[in-house]
Amino acid sequence: MPFSVIFDKFSSRHGIIYTIKTSIYKMNLHQRTKLEIKKLREHVEKRLTQNDAAHDFEHILRVLKNATKIARKEKASIRMITAAVLLHDIVSYKKSDPRSKNSSSVSAEKARETLQRYDFSQDEINIISDAIRDHSFSRGITPKTLVGKILQDADRLDALGTIGIARTFAVSGAEKRPFYNSDDPFCKKRTPDDKSWTLDHFYKKLLLLEKTMNTRTGKIEAVKRTKIMKKFLDELKKEI
Ligand SMILES: [Fe+2]
Repeated sequence: MPFSVIFDKFSSRHGIIYTIKTSIYKMNLHQRTKLEIKKLREHVEKRLTQNDAAHDFEHILRVLKNATKIARKEKASIRMITAAVLLHDIVSYKKSDPRSKNSSSVSAEKARETLQRYDFSQDEINIISDAIRDHSFSRGITPKTLVGKILQDADRLDALGTIGIARTFAVSGAEKRPFYNSDDPFCKKRTPDDKSWTLDHFYKKLLLLEKTMNTRTGKIEAVKRTKIMKKFLDELKKEI
């Protein structure tokens, strides 16, 4: 509500000073939150310049777009979701690095350390840090909090659809992995081995993600994006 409207509405009543002061405090709180998030966003953007194309700042922005859409439907705190998304890949070891499985827990610790310098309470920091630790697929768990559930869904959506296909081939290219196993490209008679072949990643992880979604909004989008990936695989079958 604009300041002038608040003033007009309450100017003829008792308690005018208190009401105006409360409104100014609220406006400042909103502005302060915006500024804090802006600062955090700049901090993360600088830190991610060395990340690979699948985990760069554009990935963070796409996950933020997904997460904001889900958070609005679920009536979750956009402020906390935004902080969780911004920091969720702050440490991202390459897939070939033996520390790769620790990326989410190391990011969670880094997030906890970073957020101490921002305007977040200790309880909020715990929720955000736990959400980051628990979001990864390799950890195999369902996050306990709504912030955690939304972060996990939003991140998984970026592994699906056309962007999911692009990211999969980008990671595999960086690892110099062949596109497929020529004897059985679509894992019909063997257990998927995504350390050896790119297409195996679809069968080992990507096509399973839609069943792991936590929120209704996330699930609807995941089903849509999974269909695109299945269509891609069907077309590829005709070409190779
Ligand atoms: Fe991510």
